[in-house]
Formats: sequence, C-alpha cells, structure tokens
Amino acid sequence: MAISKKAGKKTAVKSAGTAKVAKADWKEGFKKKQVGVSDMTLLTTISNDSINDNLQKRWTNGEIYTYIGGVLISVNPFRDLGIYTDETLHKYKGKNRLEVPPHVFSIAESAYYNMNAYHENQCVIISGESGAGKTEAAKRIMQYIAAVSGGVDNSIQEIKEMVLATNPLLESFGCAKTLRNNNSSRHGKYLEIMFNDKGEPIGAQITNYLLEKGRVVGQIENERNFHIFYQFTKAASEDQREQFGLQGPESYAYTSMSNCFEVQDIDDSKDYADTLNAMKIIGLSNQEQNEIFRMLAVILWLGNVQFAEMDDGNATIADTGVTDFIGYLMEVDSAMVQKVLTSKVVETQRGGRRGSVYDVPLNPAQATAGRDALAKAIYNNLFEWIVARINVSMKARSATAQVIGILDIFGFEIFEDNSFEQLCINYVNEKLQQIFIELTLKTEQEEYVREQIKWTPINYFNNKIVCDLIEERKPPGIFAALNDACATAHADPAAADNSFVQRTAMLSSNAHFESRGAQFLVRHYAGDVMYNIAGMTDKNKDALVKDLFDLVGSSSNQFLQTLFSDRPDPSSKKRPPTAGDRIKVSAGALVDNLMRAQPSYIRTIKPNQNRSATEYDTKAILHQIKYLGLQENIRVRRAGFAYRNSFDKMVERFYLLSPSTSYAGEYTWQGDAKSGCERILKDTGIAKDEWQMGVTKAFIKNPETLFALETMRDRYWHSMAARIQRAWRNYWRYKNECARRIQKFWKNNKDALEYAKVRDYGHQVLAGRKERRRYSLLSYRRFLGDYLDVNGKSIIGSDLRSICSLGAEQVTFSSKVQILVHKAFRSSKCSPRFLVVTAKAVYIVKTLEKGSQIVERKIPLITIKSISMSNLRDDWLALNCNASEEGDPVLHCYFKTELTANLLTLTQAGMNVLIGPTIEYAKKKDKTQIKFVKDETIAKDDVYKSHTVHVPSGEPPSSTSRPAAKRKPGIVRPITQGRLLRAGGPSNKPNASRPKPAAQPMPGRSVPSATVKSALGSAPRSVPPPPTRNPVPPPPPPPLKEPDVELYKAKFAFEGQEGEISLKKDDVVELIEKDDNGWWLVKKDEQEGWAPNNYLELVPPKTKAVPAARLPPPRPPPPPAIVATSTSVSTSRPTAPVISVKSVSADASAKPVAVFPGLAPSNGSAAPWKKPISASANESLNTTPANSRPSSSLASKPPPPVAAKPKPVPPPVASKPNGGKLPAKPPIPTAPRPGAGAAPPKISTVSKPSAPTGQLDLAAAFAKRAQRVADD
Ligand SMILES: Nc1ncnc2c1ncn2[C@@H]1O[C@H](COP(=O)(O)OP(=O)(O)OP(=O)(O)O)[C@@H](O)[C@H]1O
Ligand SMILES: [Mg+2]
Repeated sequence: MAISKKAGKKTAVKSAGTAKVAKADWKEGFKKKQVGVSDMTLLTTISNDSINDNLQKRWTNGEIYTYIGGVLISVNPFRDLGIYTDETLHKYKGKNRLEVPPHVFSIAESAYYNMNAYHENQCVIISGESGAGKTEAAKRIMQYIAAVSGGVDNSIQEIKEMVLATNPLLESFGCAKTLRNNNSSRHGKYLEIMFNDKGEPIGAQITNYLLEKGRVVGQIENERNFHIFYQFTKAASEDQREQFGLQGPESYAYTSMSNCFEVQDIDDSKDYADTLNAMKIIGLSNQEQNEIFRMLAVILWLGNVQFAEMDDGNATIADTGVTDFIGYLMEVDSAMVQKVLTSKVVETQRGGRRGSVYDVPLNPAQATAGRDALAKAIYNNLFEWIVARINVSMKARSATAQVIGILDIFGFEIFEDNSFEQLCINYVNEKLQQIFIELTLKTEQEEYVREQIKWTPINYFNNKIVCDLIEERKPPGIFAALNDACATAHADPAAADNSFVQRTAMLSSNAHFESRGAQFLVRHYAGDVMYNIAGMTDKNKDALVKDLFDLVGSSSNQFLQTLFSDRPDPSSKKRPPTAGDRIKVSAGALVDNLMRAQPSYIRTIKPNQNRSATEYDTKAILHQIKYLGLQENIRVRRAGFAYRNSFDKMVERFYLLSPSTSYAGEYTWQGDAKSGCERILKDTGIAKDEWQMGVTKAFIKNPETLFALETMRDRYWHSMAARIQRAWRNYWRYKNECARRIQKFWKNNKDALEYAKVRDYGHQVLAGRKERRRYSLLSYRRFLGDYLDVNGKSIIGSDLRSICSLGAEQVTFSSKVQILVHKAFRSSKCSPRFLVVTAKAVYIVKTLEKGSQIVERKIPLITIKSISMSNLRDDWLALNCNASEEGDPVLHCYFKTELTANLLTLTQAGMNVLIGPTIEYAKKKDKTQIKFVKDETIAKDDVYKSHTVHVPSGEPPSSTSRPAAKRKPGIVRPITQGRLLRAGGPSNKPNASRPKPAAQPMPGRSVPSATVKSALGSAPRSVPPPPTRNPVPPPPPPPLKEPDVELYKAKFAFEGQEGEISLKKDDVVELIEKDDNGWWLVKKDEQEGWAPNNYLELVPPKTKAVPAARLPPPRPPPPPAIVATSTSVSTSRPTAPVISVKSVSADASAKPVAVFPGLAPSNGSAAPWKKPISASANESLNTTPANSRPSSSLASKPPPPVAAKPKPVPPPVASKPNGGKLPAKPPIPTAPRPGAGAAPPKISTVSKPSAPTGQLDLAAAFAKRAQRVADD
C-alpha cells in the first residue's frame, strides 16, 4: 500500500507562547464543501451499503475520488469536471495524500515520491469494469509524472513527449467502441517509465497483453472495429487513397458489418491527425507509416474477398479483382492469393515421416475462416510491431535507477455470447484481483502473524480457487483441458470442441465451475459468466495454416516479412504454444513483475451502463463494491498498520532523526538494525501505540506518523545547513572577538607594565631603609603619576598646565602636597601646594587667598642633588638643591616613593636618596635639620612641630607589599551568542562536548538497481570510514596580513553621551563595527564609542607605511647612588632594579577583559589606567589581524548618502543600538459492401581619563577599590 510523503512544510512552527493564531481565511467560506468521508476507513459503520451511500453522496457532489487508506476508489463521472488542469496538478505536487483532497494525482505523487525516497520500483494497478475509467486514470498518472519529473535535458523532454504520444497511437490501434465504452481498450497494457537516480524519466517500455484480434474481422451490432480503420478510411490523404485504393468505411466489410460508423464524442478525422502526429513524435519514418497503412489496406481488402459456392460445394473467389489488388498490396502473386484462400495443402503422415501432399479445396465457410485468420494475424502482428517499435524509440537513454509501472488492462467482461477472448480477459482480471487480495488482505494478515504483531483475522474471499480453475495443470484447469482437446483433435475444430466439452465434466468438482453442455459457467470474483464452447479450441490453437505462412513468405514486401518473422518451424515436432499458454505465461510474468514493485491501487467503478453523468445505478455499484472487496479492504486497513518496512530500510531512511544513531550525517549506531530502528522511533517521540516492532519489520499504524517522520527528516537537512552556517559565523565572530580582546588585554597590560615598573623601582630604592605605612602593604598599587590630570582635560589639570606654562610638555607626576613654610620668628608651618613634575623641572604651585594660583617655585631637575627622607613611616621629604635663596623645599607627600622613583627615572638616577633619622635641608641659606621621633600617640599620619616630626611606628623597612589581590573570575561577557558556543566562550573542558561517534556501515544498505547503478558508474552510497589522523603535521599558518582599517571622517561635530563618542568636525575615526540601526562603533584616540553613521564619511585608503621596528627598551641606568650620612642606616646602594616579568604579568588563569569588569566601560574599551595612544600602541594596532572586526551584514550595503556640503543643521540621529519492385497496380476494385573569519623604566606620558576626586589616602583608596571590584 503506497504511502506518500511528508506532511506539510509550508509554515514554520512558531514557538509556544509567542505563537499567534493565524487569521482565518475568508476564502475558506467559498470552498466547496466536502461531502461524506474522503477516506472510508473513517466510516462509522462498515457495510456495503454505507460504502455505497458514501460513494453516492460524493459522486453526486462531483467528488469522484475516495480513499480506503492508500487505495483510491474512482467512480466514473462521465463528464468533464475540470479537475485535471495544470493548476490542480500543481496543488498536488509535493503534498502527501492527507494534505489534499483525494485525487488520482495524489496517487501519482505518492508513487513518484516513494520511488525517489525509498529507491523502490513502483506500480499503479488500475482495475475495474469496462468503461469504469481505467485508461483515463492511467493517462492522468502519465500526465502528472511528466509534469513533475523535471529534467531540462532534451532527451528527457523527448521521452516525456513520447510517453504521452503512446496514448493516442495505441488507443487508435488498440481501442474500439463497444457497447460499454466508446473507447474501450481491446488489449492490456503495462507501461513502465524508467527513471534515473535524479527521478527524471530516461526511457519507457510497453508490454502488450491479449489484443482482441477477433474484432478485426467482426463486431457485434453497434460496436466498431479498432478506431484506426475508421480514421484511416475517413481521413486518409488523396495519395493514400490512390495508393491503397482506399474508400470510406462503409465500403469495407470489416468496418461496416456492425453498422456503426460514428461514435459520440469521437472525431475520427481529428484523431487520425493525432495518430499521425503521435507516429511522428515516436519517430516512425514515412516509410514505416506507409507500410503500416498498407497493412491496414490489405486487411480492409481481405474483408472484401467474397466466396461463391461452386456446384461441388467448393469455394471460389467471387471477384478476383479484389484478390489481385490484395496481391498488389502484399507484393505477392495474385494467383497465389486466390489459391491460398480457396484451398489448403494437406500432408499425410506415415509413422512420423512425411507422406504425400494434397491440395484440398475449401468450402466457402472454411475459406472465409482462412481469410479472417490471415486478416487477424496481420493486424495482431502489426500491433505488436508497433508496440515493439515504440519500445525501440523509448529505449532508456541512460542507466535506470527505478521504474514506475502503470497497468491499464481490459476490464472484466460479461457479454451475452462469451467466448475464448472473454475467458482470457476475465482470467487476467482474476490474476490482478489476486494480487490485490494477496497484498492487501492475505499477505498483510499473514505478515502480521509472521511478524508476531497482535492481530484478529478478517475473512475475505480468496479468488485463488478461480485462478486455479483456469490455469492449473494438475488437476487440469480450463486452459489445460483446451490444450488437450486441441492436441487430440487438431484437424477438426468441431471435434476438438466436443472433446473439450467432455473434459469440462472433470472440472465440475470445482465449486466455481458448472458444465452446461456446449457452455460452461465460471463463478468469477466479479460475477458468473457463461462461456460458449463453440470455436474455443480453434481460437486457443491460434495457428495460421501453413499455406498462409507460405503466402506471406513469398512476399517481396520486407515489412510484411518482418511482421511474420516468427513463423513456426514446420519440421518441429514440438507443439507450438497455444493462445491459452501465451496468456498464462504473460499473466504470470505480469504478476511477478508487479509483485516486485511497491503497488498503488486505483479501483474504478462504473456508475451506470449508459454513460450517464447523473444516473447512479445502486444495484450495479453495490455489485462492484462487493466483488472489489471494498468492505474487507476497509476492515483490514482499519485494524492494520498503514506502513511497514524492514528494519534495515527504516534505519537507512530515518537514522538521522536520532542522536543515538547519527552524528553529523553519519550512521553511528553500533547495534543491530532492529535496536537502531527502535531507538529512532523512541527518540522521535512517537507514541508507543503508533508503532510496533515485528520480527523483521517495523510497523507504523497511521500514515500521519510516517508523514511526521518524513517531515522531521526534511527538517533535519534544513537545520543542519543552518547549523553549519551558524557555526561558521560564530567561528568568525569568535575569532575576531578573541583577537580584539587579546589586543586590548595586551595594550592594557602594557600600560600597566609601565606603571608597575615605576612602582617596583621606587620600592627597590627605599627597600630596607624606611619604615612603611601599613596601607601601602595592602596590595600592589599602580603608580599612576599624574594624579592631578595635568596631561588630561580636567579643569584643575588644565589650570595647572597653563599656570606652569607647560605648553605641550608632558607631566610625569603631579599631586597635592604640603610644604613646610618658614615664617620669620615663628615656627614653620605646613601649607597645601600642587606639585607638578616634568622631565625638566619640579613646579610648586600655590593657591592664593583669592583662589588664584601661582607658580611659587620652579626647580630645574638638574639643580636637585638629592632627596632626603627619614627612615620612619612619615611622608616627609626634602629636595636638596644647589644653594639658592629659597633654600630646599621640604614636602609632605603621600606618594613620596613614587615621586622619588619618578625623579630618579627622569634624571637617570642622577640624584642621591638620603635616608636617616633626620633630614638635612637648607633653610634659606642655612643648613638645618628636621628630627624624626617615634610617637605612638599620633593617631594619623605624622605631626610636624618645631623641627621635629612625630610619627608612630610603621611596618619594618624590610616589609614587602602583599601581592595584588587575586581577581575573581567575574562575569565574562559571552563572545558569541550562537548555541554552538557556551555562554562565556568555549569551555576549557573539551571532554565536556559530545565525543564524535565512529561512522558505522549501514545495515543491509540496499542498492536499488545494482546492475543499473554500476552501469552508471556511481558507486552505491556507502558510509565513509571514520577519519584517520594525518601523521604529517600541517604546514604553518601564513603570516598575518596587515589589517584593513576603514577610516571615517566626521562630517559634523557630535556631542556624545554615555557609551557614545564625541566628535569634532573632520575628526578621523577608525570603524570597529557597523550596526543596522544607523549607529557605528568607532575608535578615536584609543577611545571607543557609538556614533551616528550619517555623521561619518569614508576616508579613501592610503598606502600604509611599513611600521618601524620596535626598539629594545633602554638599558637600565646605574643604580642611584646612596650617600650615607652619619645617620644613614644603610650604605648599600640598591642594585639595578630587575623587573621580574612574573611580577607584572597577569594571572594566567584570569580571563581577559573581565579582569576589571566594573572598571571597563560598557563597550569594553580602555581601562582607567590606560595610556593614551603611543608609538608602541600604534605598533600593536598594526598587528591587528586582517578582518579583525566581526563581519557585518551591512558590508555589502551601499554607503549612506553623503551630504554635498555640511548643512547648518546636522542630520537626525537614529536611535541608539543596542525501396522494391512492385507488380503492376491492378485496377482498384469497386468494393461491394458484403457485410460491413630592569632598568629604571623610561616613563611614557600617561594620561588618565578622569581626574581623581580626592587624595586622602589614595594608595589605600585604590587598593580598596580594586578589592571591591574584584569582590563584585
Ligand atoms: N475521470 C473521468 N472524468 C471524466 N470522464 C471520464 C473519467 N474517467 C472515464 N471517463 C469517461 O469514461 C469513458 C470510459 O473510460 P475508460 O476508457 O477509461 O474506461 P476503461 O476502464 O479503460 O474501460 P475499458 O476496460 O473498456 O478500456 C472515457 O472515455 C470518458 O469519457
Ligand atoms: Mg481502457
């Protein structure tokens, strides 16, 4: 039972919750309402009457198609319903039968789909009474397949046209008007369309069954001969008329005896043109066509040969003009024609040896029979030649992968006078019914039992008993009995018939047979048929007398010779096969052929005998419902499983649906096919009662389930493609983001390195010589230098710069300090000052009472000889300068260590650091001292009073700062949003990801057509072996390319807010990322921020200069000389500071960027301690990999419109992102109508984004803040 395909895939399923109910379509109301049930498995009561009711309702409503599961029931409408248009056809394309109303196109679609999907040959078996619509259905299937099977190739189009052209051609030669059907197929036909592995038709083949040749020589009243005779006699060209002496159909006995020349709805002249066109499409040459028509003319003229009875009772040719013309047409001696038609050669046999040969004259009846036999033989052979010729033209152009067969065979017949022909026709119908029973009822039920599927047997009539009655050899059936009768009384037909009558008595034991003298009755599945025995044996013998063969053999017409090329060997003792033998063999071959394919059934029903579009003959239909076994069909279908397939095939088709059986498209299941199949069905979440596992096959209850599996399979490919795309995009994003973070991290650390060098150097200078403040030991603090942001843009910083008249000079250190101010006759006092240090001088800035500031003192560095400080934990220091009026400044500075390191670095350690219990300094011109005493009563810092500083005990001089607080991992921003990467970036536990299972060979992987496939050269699909590692290491990656940096210029000034960047007109910025919403992320002076893209215009790229090689760091200067004073505690000079990389490198386990998540701006740009762009920073920029920015979907978009001139009003801002010799032609006879993707470090100028707000204990404050951030 054919199951078609996937369920609908039209609309994407919306996620639950957010899904909106689709708006109802008003057109629904205009749709024709379906009547009854479209699938009779849904009938509430299953009886012949309820089936009939349903069919009647539907037929009356113009719905001629109804299903029983996958079987299509079609009731002939006898009118044009307009349901075979291209529009209707395309509605069925790619749809499974549940999605669309029942239709013959749906059966065609299902066969075509299944062939392609399961690589199995398909067949469509169309059965039903004569006139029920089999031929029409077959034509629609061909129409559908030709329309959907694609192929732009000329040869494919040619095959399609040929297949369609076989219909008019074979209908002309094989169909005739009968009492039941105006276009009754008088032969059976099995058309097989061959397809390549892409599902394109590449060839076709027709097998012809049982042409009713008796029709050529006679028809019953109101029936006609084959259509071609009327087409030819009515519409032949003048040339043909002249050549073949052709006249109208009424002039020939064979076409006029039944007195029927016209048929309603048939235009013979038009059909003749169609026939000629079809011959042309199929490739019949003019010569071949001419020969075909010559044969038709021979037959027509043969029919007009009249025999007169002579006195001796023998026959004589009434008009030798006719036989002369026949001789001319057959290209034989006309005398021989006369002789052959009126006498026969009889050879006596003696003891098996040849004896004397006699010419025995024939009586008129015998002569007429001989004449008709010749006419029938010519037509039959001509028909077979045409079929064979068609097959030559439609020969497969390339290797055949699969085949779809369409069986349109004559329908079951019951006439008043039923003879051998009806017996054969009805026999073939019995065989087809048996296939149906076998596959839908018997085999199905037996399969359930065999597969141990729970099953309650359903009774049905098995017609095997009737088939056996006709075809069995032992005990002999009807055909065997006929053969025996022919063999025993071969010379006398009447005697043979009698012999057969006697033999029929032996068949009477069969309940389906009744012998009734000269008749016998067979109870067929479709009804009881009474057959007349007279002439039966002769028809079964179906042999031309030897004389007729000799006549044909004497012909110089090559075509005629070809038609009779298969003449029996007269010397052979072997009995030539009888007609019964042949039909048995061909029916058997047909059954075998059909059984090898996956069948689809169309059961046609004829609603009345009058070709009426309105008459519903309930009795006749009930009869058909009964014998077609529709009721049993529904019961079995309802109780059974819609689909089953072997475990191998199921696994092969659906292994992709389970992660347990597949990995990246490979089959990975290691168990057997059965367990794999079960796993798949479980993993797909199909309800358990929807499927059962048999012994060798899996069974699926409802077709919807199979469709669902097919849909899942379809989606698998789509989602895999999407996954690959997503993974690729993620990879590129990830790669670029990683590169960006690495660059940023490096830049930040590089800056931090500079600061750390200053710090470490400072601590080394003072190490072991001066007590330390407790807070300074808390953690490493970076020495930032310019605490007052003189290098930056803060107000205080700018003021100081201008007061000190620094110009572009960079400040290396700035801080608030206290200075000891000496007043005459009064004790010295502390007063606040600003201290600014540049590479040239130290500035002391004083704030006057009015708030204005002045440079109180500028001390060139060169004049500072030494720095003096105590060995206690105080913050005092004196800058010992060359003698001057102002004396040496004595400062109280919290950043004394940093200041010292700064000054030493600036002077290349060109000043001494004096440390002792006292500080000596020049007060004006006099030298004086400040004493330092420990005083634990001092609560905070230290206190100066009368040349003495009271300071509580500090930490020992040997104490070292605690290492920087370990950063907590913090919240790491995900690098990508894709599902393929874990949040926060790839896991550092690779084992956590699913291990890749090894590919497994597919169980019992079938090769649909082994011979054919190998001929194609395409090896059957096999699962590749698991990948092996390449022992050769891969080549090193190519060097990184210089990055492509797009620069943009600001067309207008833009005042940025938080997260945005402020731009001045003509500012050049670097593009980091383009966002669809009109905002771009840009970078200017190492600062990143969003800016409206319509404010920016692209700067044409310049040729980049080769970046200068980076200079090695300067050699460390000699360590600063320590001049020991009498009070000096340490005389050793500090060794040159060796900066351990470890001391400044980041924690290896720390994640980039998230190191100080709270301190970084939201866009992840510069850290607070970040240095402004410097030569080294530029260099690191140049190392940015090509395409380091994430690819933007807008990359291919046209640039935004650029205003010709800057307008006074800036553009609106988008909302922010987120040859031969012939005897002379005799005169044409008048045809009578007889019967019718470590030295002191060189200080770089450091800027700080924002001015500090206070300076109480900054070191402590910074340490606290770092700790707080880390805690966050
Ligand atoms: N689907 C249909 N729509 C309209 N008319 C139809 C349809 N099917 C059949 N007919 C009409 O019924 C006539 C008989 O159909 P068809 O020739 O297919 O019968 P058949 O089953 O092949 O009979 P036979 O066994 O005698 O060849 C057609 O010529 C056509 O007029
Ligand atoms: Mg037909």
